[in-house]
Formats: sequence, structure tokens, C-alpha cells
Amino acid sequence: MSSQPNLQVLFRREEIAATVERLAAEIRQDYQGRHPLLIGILKGSFIFMADLVRRLNFPLEVEFIRLSSYGRGRASSGKVKLVQGLRSEVKGRDVLVIEDIVDSGLTIAFLLDYLRKRKPASLKLCALADKPSCRQVPVAIDYLGFTVPDKFLVGYGLDRDEQFRYLPDISVVEVKAD
Ligand code: IMP
Ligand code: MG
Repeated sequence: MSSQPNLQVLFRREEIAATVERLAAEIRQDYQGRHPLLIGILKGSFIFMADLVRRLNFPLEVEFIRLSSYGRGRASSGKVKLVQGLRSEVKGRDVLVIEDIVDSGLTIAFLLDYLRKRKPASLKLCALADKPSCRQVPVAIDYLGFTVPDKFLVGYGLDRDEQFRYLPDISVVEVKAD
């Protein structure tokens, strides 16, 4: 059985770039001179993180963390585990987590809890997109790019089964069997 993905552009690259610049401006204002530790969540945030840090104009450090939900499927199972942890010390640092999409909130709630236990000086969240209609646990997003509808999005780092991450625009994907 084959299927034909149908992509409909939701945010074009120009709009994404303007949004990343807006977020960078907010972060520049808040973190100037604080030497923050930016932690990107793999894999979805890698393009967003790369674009964002190039718009920051002060010393910072970059780290990545990899999480995975137990079980398969596109909805979070709620049981999150750490696949690749941190190599940097979090204690006493100004930590800014960079996430692609907050959906149920379960993934990010797990990570924020994990980091908070390591006693950072401050802990904030920057997310490219928020799907509030799917929330299962409350999550405060300090820097938010887009509020999005309850649709599956791909492109600009976002995947569906590892496909479409390379696309420069963000699209809604619908799979139609043919
Ligand atoms: P949550 O634990 O339900 O909040 O799931 C968040 C994670 O699911 C994100 O880090 C994404 O990797 C993934 N995710 C949620 N919605 C989408 C989407 O529309 N496209 C691609 N990945 C998504
Ligand atoms: Mg993710």
C-alpha cells in the first residue's frame, strides 16, 4: 500500500524568519550579558535553534538533549525517557530550552522537571509553535513563535515519521491513501 502526502503551506519561510527574529529580539533583551545555556531538544528543534542562535549577539553556550516517548505513534504516550542527556552543568546557569512544538505538553513538562531538579539559576522555555488544543498538562511558554491549530505540521525541522524535516516552509500534512 502506498500513500500520497498532501502538503499545504501554513507558514512560509519569510514569515518564519520574521518570527525567529522577533523571538531573538526578545531573548537578546532578556539575556544580554548573562551567558545562558541554550538546550535544544532533538531532533525537531535543530533548524530553529540554528537560525535563532545566529540572531543572538552575546556569548552563550549550546547543548542538545534527546528525548523519546515510549511506544509508537504520533501522540505522546506520556512516558518520556532521556535518550541523550546533557554534558554541561546546569546548576547555577541561566537555562533556556528550545523546543519545536508543545502539543500535549508531556515531553516538555518532563524535561523542565528534570532540569529544575538540577538547580539552574533560571529556567525558561522558547517554543516555535504551540498547539494549545492538545494540552494535557499546563506549560508556560516564555517565548512563543506561532499558535497553531490541531493539525500535523512538517517542515523547518518538523517531521512525520522522519520525513519532510528539510522543507523550508511549515506545512500541514494530510495523508491520503491512493
Ligand atoms: P507533546 O509531548 O505531546 O507535547 O509532544 C511534543 C513533541 O511531539 C514535539 O517535540 C514534537 O517533536 C512532536 N510533535 C507534536 N506535534 C507535532 C507536529 O505537528 N509535527 C511534528 N512533530 C510534532
Ligand atoms: Mg520534539
